[in-house]
Amino acid sequence: MMKGHYYITTPIYYINDVPHIGHAYTTIAADIMARYKRLCGYEVFFLTGTDEHGQKAQKAAMEQNISPKELADKMVTRFVELWKVLNISNTGFIRTTEERHKKVVQHIFQKVYEKGDIYLGEYEDWYCIYCESFYTELQLLDGRCPDCHRAPQRLKEESYFFRLSAYTDRLLQFLEENKTFVLPEIRYNEVLSFVKGGLKDLSVSRTSLDWGIPVPFNEKHIIYVWFDALTNYLTGIGFLEDENTFNSFWPCDAHLIGKDILRFHAVYWPIFLMSYGLQPPKQIFAHGWWTIEGQKMSKSLGNVVDPHDVVREYGVDEFRFFLFREVPFGLDGDFSKKAITHRINGDLANDLGNLLSRTVTMIERYTGGKIDYPQKKTGTDELTERLILDLIELYKKEMDVFAFYRALQRVFEITAHLNRYIDSEAPWKLAKEDTPRLKTVLFNLWNGLRIVGFLLYPFMPEKSNALWRALGIRKTIEETNFSDNERFYRMDDLAPIVRIQPLFPRIKEE
Ligand code: ME8
Ligand code: MG
Repeated sequence: MMKGHYYITTPIYYINDVPHIGHAYTTIAADIMARYKRLCGYEVFFLTGTDEHGQKAQKAAMEQNISPKELADKMVTRFVELWKVLNISNTGFIRTTEERHKKVVQHIFQKVYEKGDIYLGEYEDWYCIYCESFYTELQLLDGRCPDCHRAPQRLKEESYFFRLSAYTDRLLQFLEENKTFVLPEIRYNEVLSFVKGGLKDLSVSRTSLDWGIPVPFNEKHIIYVWFDALTNYLTGIGFLEDENTFNSFWPCDAHLIGKDILRFHAVYWPIFLMSYGLQPPKQIFAHGWWTIEGQKMSKSLGNVVDPHDVVREYGVDEFRFFLFREVPFGLDGDFSKKAITHRINGDLANDLGNLLSRTVTMIERYTGGKIDYPQKKTGTDELTERLILDLIELYKKEMDVFAFYRALQRVFEITAHLNRYIDSEAPWKLAKEDTPRLKTVLFNLWNGLRIVGFLLYPFMPEKSNALWRALGIRKTIEETNFSDNERFYRMDDLAPIVRIQPLFPRIKEE
């Protein structure tokens, strides 16, 4: 049954700020993929964590009169708690201040230095403290940081450099040979044209900073935060500690990130790995950006959305569902109360919720809360079964390439078909005229709904299990997998199927 190993990661988030809807988005996306792959039979390692070093953390700690480590200890619980609330099924959690991580970072830095890919030089350029990035004159926008638009400062310091320039051709060749290394395609093209422009050597240490991991052979220098941060993906699965686990999960199947940190992951990271002598990850998916009610999310605008509030108001599964039903994964999206209300009332309360209520009510009323094998089939019955089984295949194709939006469309094609099937077959008439066909129709509806619940599970783990319970199924979805579900069948040991409270209560429109 076991199909092999699957390793997926989220970015490790900075601890100078509380988690918001953007962080929740990437983490839920990774959770959806992790849950889906488990249903496919993979052993999944799902890693998330926190990025605790660097200038931003140091500054935030100073403002609060505490040490950076104290700040990290305080903030990390905010992330851990939120992931519990959002039902995130991560199997690993990494903090960059852990001892195991320091060892790995220093080891890699040392080896790459010995190899000759790191050398001592001097760095001078425009530096944005907030983004922890140097920019060339050309990259600045009206003299300001191109990312956060704050004023940069001129900075000159002794620094170790990584010979990125020496890897331009190797990375280009790798990209040409791996056209799906970066998804969506638009991001792949962005990376390709950046690398074609030629790579400059990268400063990988700072002397102007002391909150971080020291260069092992020169303690005056602190290792550049991105070299430190990216390496978490190795530490998290036991690099240098647990060879077995590491070898079963590396190379990583998918790094999920936002488009803001694409270059670090798709250019620097594979090169660091090539230099050290490890395989690059198999895939990087860079998703789009959420705005709030049409505006950029920012502390100064005071419109940062706390996922706890959304969950309290709409429910955790409703929130998870909305994020991936509303916007094709990869594109930018806008979060608004109107949009989430519309999705819940339309797709969930009306289309799916009503379908479920109608079906279980009919099964209770007409066949005593049980389902039976079909004894008599007509054209629409065969068609319904065929269509649903085909849609499962299409769903899998979409899920495998992170096309969550299209995968969900497939599921809602099933519910739409089932709703039409009820209307056209009119079981309430069959109950009076044709009991054998009545059983067939109820059997098909039950199976269709069981499959809908199964396919929605990665997105809505609690609600889809509640849907299964409403169908009388005693197993949880986690106890089953695709091969159990890709067919129509009858269960003997069903719990009695009875009328239920709405699975998705309607939200009052404002
Ligand atoms: O960059 N819309 O951490 P970070 C969508 N520590 N996604 C968003 C978002 C938004 N408005 N805002 C944030 C860092 N994100 C580094 C990463 S990895 C080795 C080191 C998500 O706390 C998105 O995934 O700034 C983005 O890439 C990430 O949060 C940035 O988190
Ligand atoms: Mg950021």
